[in-house]
Amino acid sequence: MKKQLIFILLLVPGIIVLVAMCSLSGARPEEQVDLKAKYAFKDFESAKKCRTCHPGFYEQWTQSMMSQAYTHHWDEIEYFDLAVPHAKAKPELADPVDGCNGCHAPLAFMSGPFPPPRPSEKSMANESVSCEVCHLVQKAQTDPPYNFSYYIQPGMTKYSSRKEHVESPAHKIQTTDFFRTTEFCGNCHNEKNPFGIWVKSTQLEWKEGPYADEGVRCQDCHMPRGGYQYALMGKAYKDARLHLFHGAHDPGKVRGTIELRIQPDIREAEPGETVVFTVALFNQKTGHKFPTGSVEDRIAWLQVEATDSKGKVWHINVDKKGFEGEEYTISGDYLAYQDMAVPLGQPDFKGLQRDGIPSGNRIFRMPYFDPEGRMTIMQWNTAKLGVDYRIGPRETIVENFTFRLPFDIAPGELKVRAVLNYQLLVKPVADYLKVPADESEIKFVNDHSTSIKVLP
Ligand code: HEC
Ligand code: HEC
Ligand code: HEC
Ligand code: HEC
Ligand code: HEC
Repeated sequence: MKKQLIFILLLVPGIIVLVAMCSLSGARPEEQVDLKAKYAFKDFESAKKCRTCHPGFYEQWTQSMMSQAYTHHWDEIEYFDLAVPHAKAKPELADPVDGCNGCHAPLAFMSGPFPPPRPSEKSMANESVSCEVCHLVQKAQTDPPYNFSYYIQPGMTKYSSRKEHVESPAHKIQTTDFFRTTEFCGNCHNEKNPFGIWVKSTQLEWKEGPYADEGVRCQDCHMPRGGYQYALMGKAYKDARLHLFHGAHDPGKVRGTIELRIQPDIREAEPGETVVFTVALFNQKTGHKFPTGSVEDRIAWLQVEATDSKGKVWHINVDKKGFEGEEYTISGDYLAYQDMAVPLGQPDFKGLQRDGIPSGNRIFRMPYFDPEGRMTIMQWNTAKLGVDYRIGPRETIVENFTFRLPFDIAPGELKVRAVLNYQLLVKPVADYLKVPADESEIKFVNDHSTSIKVLP
């Protein structure tokens, strides 16, 4: 009680001094400009226009997910079949659901109406995260950046970072170092939902990791520098920032992200004896956690199987470590995602199988929970995050797999293989919502094998 009183006595004059200082120096926090429906489609230029002089970058961008952030099948399904109906049932969700467009269809977000025309109507919403969206960004309006905190004014001035360049006949160029920062990307790659939960935190993960200290930024891995002439009337630069933006949808980017090594504790064993296989997983490739971004959808899982000399395959379960929430990191037979009942308008909806992969495998993921404590893929309906069992940048995780050799195992060489696979969207959800198969196809990350001798 006494301590609290002293604290308040000290705090009150402190605040008065602070307020006085701020009003003297005029250092008030800048007011945030709300861009929702502030402009109109006609204020913006289409990416097709940029293509006339920047054809190479245009084709690179067209192959990236950011050019499809509004039109891609899973985005359309989740927005129109889950988020929009959910906001109809719960009006308090209307504003956050309009906000989906702040990152997925910024031109539509800044123009209205809500929801924007569907992709089949071919409006400017379909431009998704276009040239114009990024190259009009002047700054982030919040620190840290999150929830489409970019500041944009339409016009002929395009912003970028190169200090010396050729003049463009089509637009003015304003040089700003902001394009070299990760905050630029963080405007959309960090997201806080209506419950105040960080449902996306790729830029924050990067900031906590080793690459931030070394100055290796998003651009260095997703927009690598190469020799390229990026404008028809321009110069060939040795260090042009290629607009690849390749990520989790590119099997080649995902492949090899994690390196695996597996070894046994003994090299010879008899049936009935126990062998412990240890797998080390080293994240050598991502600048953030793996998986990152849409973590509510994504899983990576480690499967270990032994094949005896007669070709019979034995699946080995991962050893439990005993941490809180571990049940969400080992595949099993559970139902989840019951909260889709509301947007789907199916009060009897019992939920779906949680993982859609063989039981007993280790899953690297972070579960999201709805207000009733059930696992959800609806990030806007997430009231709590579960255990964060993902693999951080340059982190190594060690897993054990204990195998008691069955009495009917064939003598001779026993080959044991560890495989890490990845999926953008858990299969039961993809199948139920009729999301085309490429979103739930199994992407191979890496594997490694070892062997022991089974004695007769
Ligand atoms: C205006 C918002 C916005 C900005 C700014 C932005 N992104 Fe994105 N980005 C998105 C959205 C939305 C998606 C999701 C696309 C989809 O629906 O699959 C995405 C997806 C991606 C992907 C994933 C591709 C995949 O295959 O899964 C990568 C990589 C990426 N962005 C990199 C970047 C980098 C690097 C920057 C900064 C230079 C950046 N983004 C800036 C909105 C943005
Ligand atoms: C050291 C290289 C590196 C850096 C730095 C890096 N990334 Fe990545 N990123 C990767 C690799 C490799 C993948 C593919 C594996 C994966 O999906 O995580 C990836 C995947 C992604 C994805 C798709 C992830 C998913 O699971 O859907 C997004 C989005 C992304 N990066 C955005 C960013 C942003 C934003 C930054 C900066 C804050 C950044 N990256 C920094 C290497 C990097
Ligand atoms: C009539 C041709 C033309 C059109 C159309 C055009 N640009 Fe350019 N742009 C150029 C030229 C030329 C340069 C300078 C190239 C150089 O330095 O080699 C340039 C440079 C740029 C730069 C700056 C790169 C730097 O050097 O810092 C950006 C950003 C840019 N353009 C974006 C756009 C966007 C976005 C659009 C579409 C809205 C667009 N451009 C349309 C010709 C064009
Ligand atoms: C997700 C945001 C994003 C999108 C979309 C995007 N750019 Fe860029 N662009 C950047 C960033 C960031 C840089 C500067 C990177 C750096 O210097 O580190 C850049 C650089 C450039 C440059 C100068 C390259 C250099 O090496 O200096 C040109 C030209 C350009 N962009 C044109 C385009 C065109 C044309 C499109 C559409 C086809 C486009 N951009 C789409 C973010 C984007
Ligand atoms: C703060 C920006 C932001 C907001 C707001 C946002 N998203 Fe996203 N969304 C992203 C980014 C960035 C990615 C890509 C992350 C990754 O690749 O893992 C993404 C990915 C997705 C994906 C997965 C795409 C795929 O192909 O795997 C879906 C679906 C999606 N968002 C739907 C929505 C819906 C629906 C809303 C609104 C309720 C919403 N998003 C709000 C930024 C945002």
